[in-house]
Amino acid sequence: MDVKLQEAKNSIRDIVDFPKEGIVFKDITTMLKDEKHLNTLVESLYEQYKDKGITKIVGLESRGFILGTVLAYKLGAGFVPVRKPGKLPAPTYSEKYSLEYGEDEMFIHQDALNSDDVILLHDDLLATGGTAKASINLISKFNVKNVFVNFLVELDFLNGREKLDTNYQVDSLFHF
Ligand code: PRP
Ligand code: HPA
Repeated sequence: MDVKLQEAKNSIRDIVDFPKEGIVFKDITTMLKDEKHLNTLVESLYEQYKDKGITKIVGLESRGFILGTVLAYKLGAGFVPVRKPGKLPAPTYSEKYSLEYGEDEMFIHQDALNSDDVILLHDDLLATGGTAKASINLISKFNVKNVFVNFLVELDFLNGREKLDTNYQVDSLFHF
């Protein structure tokens, strides 16, 4: 891996027992607060996706909004939020997904995408894959031209990639 990317990866810190006992939480705030690392992340993602014809970034609430919007600006694309319950004001499509305990649901505005769009779905982290799978299902309601899926961080040991069960190209900048 490129030295700058390796340094950015090394700046992600582990928080033990957050948000619950037994979980080692990957905290990306230590990476994002450093202007060198932020620059490295944005430039690296831009290089990866600049020739893909991306028309819209779909960012997942809430940490997918951080780089999702910056990338949309850099790529000359629009930004569409996928949000948690009770946040989007106009008519929505929704998809339920399972959590460790119980269920949650993600929403997208019904007029957010169209059949000419090439989508880059972005989130900060892929863990068990429930959030991203629900969001892929939301995007599939729009019959768009193509979808790329990107995470800053993928927790390989949780096998979230298998749950995504998609033919779309899935890439993560960092793997743990
Ligand atoms: C985290 C993370 C992903 C999701 C990954 O978000 O940012 O969106 O969990 O988990 P999964 O792959 O097991 O579904 P969180 O729900 O903590 O929300 P936040 O971004 O608003 O903090
Ligand atoms: N870090 C950040 N977000 C997360 C994690 C993590 O380790 N697991 C699930 N969501």
